[in-house]
Amino acid sequence: MVSNPYALPKAELHLHIEGTFEPELIFAMAERNRVTLPYPSVDALRRAYEFTDLQSFLDLYYAAMNVLRTERDFAEVAEAYFARAREQGVVHAEIFFDPQAHTARGIPFETVIDGLWSAVRESERRHGITTKLIMCFLRDQSAESAMATLEAALPFGERIVAVGLDSAEVGHPPAKFRRVFERALAQGWKTVAHAGEEGPPAYVWEALDVLKVSRVDHGVRSLEDPALIARLREERMPLTVCPLSNVKLRVFDTLRDHSLPRMLDEDLVATINSDDPAYFGGYVGDNFAAVAEALALPPSALVRLARNSFEASFIDESTRSAYLARLDAAAATEV
Ligand code: HPA
Ligand code: ZN
Repeated sequence: MVSNPYALPKAELHLHIEGTFEPELIFAMAERNRVTLPYPSVDALRRAYEFTDLQSFLDLYYAAMNVLRTERDFAEVAEAYFARAREQGVVHAEIFFDPQAHTARGIPFETVIDGLWSAVRESERRHGITTKLIMCFLRDQSAESAMATLEAALPFGERIVAVGLDSAEVGHPPAKFRRVFERALAQGWKTVAHAGEEGPPAYVWEALDVLKVSRVDHGVRSLEDPALIARLREERMPLTVCPLSNVKLRVFDTLRDHSLPRMLDEDLVATINSDDPAYFGGYVGDNFAAVAEALALPPSALVRLARNSFEASFIDESTRSAYLARLDAAAATEV
C-alpha cells in the first residue's frame, strides 16, 4: 500500500491561482512592470505571512496581485503552479481565478483568461495535467458587479466549467448572489461556493439550497450542525478541505485539532487541497503529508481522500475511470 502521499495521483479542486504567486515571482514581475511593492525584499514580504484571520490574508493577497498586468504575467503564474503541481502528484486541477480583482484595476477580462488559458494548454501538453477553470465572484463586492463579470465571461464560456464565490465570507451570505448563480446555471456552468470557512452552517445550507452548488469549498463549520452533516452525507456532497490554510487563517489552532478525521468518520466526501499554497506553507501533496503525520492517518485514508478528489471533480466519466484506475494501480504499489 502506498505510503508516500506525493506519489498518489490526485485532483486538486480548491486552488486560487493568484494564491500560488510566490514572493520571488512577485518581485521579478514588479521589477519588470515597474510596480513598487510595499515591502523592501522577498524576505520582508515572506515575513509578513503571519495571518490572524481570513481578512488579514486577503489584504496581502490583493496587494500582491497588483503586479499582475499582462497576459504573459498570468501565464507565468499558472505555469509555475503546474510545474509544482506535477511534483505533488496532481493529474487534474480545477482552478479558481478572481477576475474582479484584476478588472477593478483596469486589466481587461480577456488579458486574464487568455494568459491563464495559454498556460492550461501548455501544461496539458508538457505535464499531462488536465485542467478546468472556475470563475469566482468576490462576495464582498456587489451582486451587480458579479453579474457584469458573468456577462464579460460569456464569450469565453467554453473555457469555464463553473462559477464560485470567494473573499470575505462573514456578512456576505450566498443568497446575495441568487440571481447571478441562476444565470450561471442557465448558461450551463456548474456552481460551487466557499461556505462554512469563517461563516456559519447557515451559509452552507444557503449555498446548497439557493446557489445549487455541486461542491462546498471548505465547509468545515458544517460539523457544528448534525442535520447538515446528514444532508451532506446523503447527497454525497463533496467538501474541498484545505488543512494548512485552516491553520494559517486560525480556523483551527493546530493541524492536530483539525476535524478531517471526524469528516471521514461521518462518511463525508472530504477532499484535500492547498487553497493558496504560496501563502499557507504547502502545496497539495504537502497538505496530504502534513495531515497524514499530524492526524496519524493510515495510507488507506489517504487513498480514500485521493479517490474522493476524482469522484468530486467535473471531468467526464471516461476520464474519471481512467484516473481512478491510475490511483488504484499507484495505491497497490509499495512506495
Ligand atoms: N477564502 C476566501 N477567499 C479566498 C480564499 C479563502 O481561503 N483564498 C483566496 N480567496
Ligand atoms: Zn479558497
